[in-house]
Amino acid sequence: MAIQEISISELNTGNFINDQVASIKAQVGNEVAVNALSGGVDSAVVTMLGHKALGDKLKTYFVENGLMREGEAQQIVKWFADLGVKVEIIDAKKKFFAGLKGITDPEEKREKGITQVFYKDVFAELVKKSGAKVLLQGTNYTDVEETAAGVKRQHNVFEQIGIDPQKAFGYKVVEPILQLRKPAVRAVARAVGLPKEISDRPPFPGPALAARVIGEATPDRIETVRKATKVVEDELAGCGAFQYLAILHEDMVTGIRNHAREFGKQIEVRCWDSQDAVTANPTELPFSTLRRIADRIVEEVPGVVSVTYNIATKPPSCIEAV
Ligand code: XMP
Repeated sequence: MAIQEISISELNTGNFINDQVASIKAQVGNEVAVNALSGGVDSAVVTMLGHKALGDKLKTYFVENGLMREGEAQQIVKWFADLGVKVEIIDAKKKFFAGLKGITDPEEKREKGITQVFYKDVFAELVKKSGAKVLLQGTNYTDVEETAAGVKRQHNVFEQIGIDPQKAFGYKVVEPILQLRKPAVRAVARAVGLPKEISDRPPFPGPALAARVIGEATPDRIETVRKATKVVEDELAGCGAFQYLAILHEDMVTGIRNHAREFGKQIEVRCWDSQDAVTANPTELPFSTLRRIADRIVEEVPGVVSVTYNIATKPPSCIEAV
């Protein structure tokens, strides 16, 4: 891989910020640029670097794809308003669910259902609408590494696998944190003035809850995993793990509720200890915590009769299920 990693021990955050601000200015010139803020630490850092470099010439959008967690859009707009950054919400729910319709294969879901809709459809329109020539995005070193190695098609990797975004989508992509892994991104986040709620946020994948639904990501199935995610995040916030999540399985299982048979859904809970997502171990959560999560999920998420906890390591597991 041609990109040179800057490890956390080599990173000087002040120099990094100055270099990237200068580089963004040089690459964007007098043009307008857009960026999509998902609320994760990667895109949040890029938003701050972009605003330092470009001020009002950077238009920041939150794409409401219908696949985000409960209350996410409002939370992000508020956090960034407090930082003086205006974020416009773009409602793209219909486009994403149309793109995901009928898709069950994981890689097809990422490529056709998410990547193509994001870049060809939603961003292309935003770029056109705002008169921008450049998209700033928060691809990091691990995204590229895993995609280039053919492990998993991260939704935001192009040039490194031979796709020219200018030709494919009609705009240039600038990626200021390409040389950093997560711990280094978090260090830059703190240095660039982001609050702890953002700099320490557990990662969340670009394909959002669609990466946590095995099989077709319909609005109903996304709603199921969204509700389960809320329970897992409520119960595990502050537990110190790298990432915690809920997954909706495709197989149904027989359960019993109120003395009646219920052929219901299965949720898998995952909680990971990891430094950089490259390898990960399941967190040894107290059994009482797991039981509380299970009790709440079967109570609060309609139709769920089974809750499991993943105890395999990455590799061979992955952090997400799709
Ligand atoms: P995996 O599932 O590959 O996840 O073990 C490693 C880390 O990357 C996140 N992830 C993604 N992030 N686009 C992203 O921006 C993606 O397509 C994607 N897939 C996984 C995942 O949440 C974990 O932190």
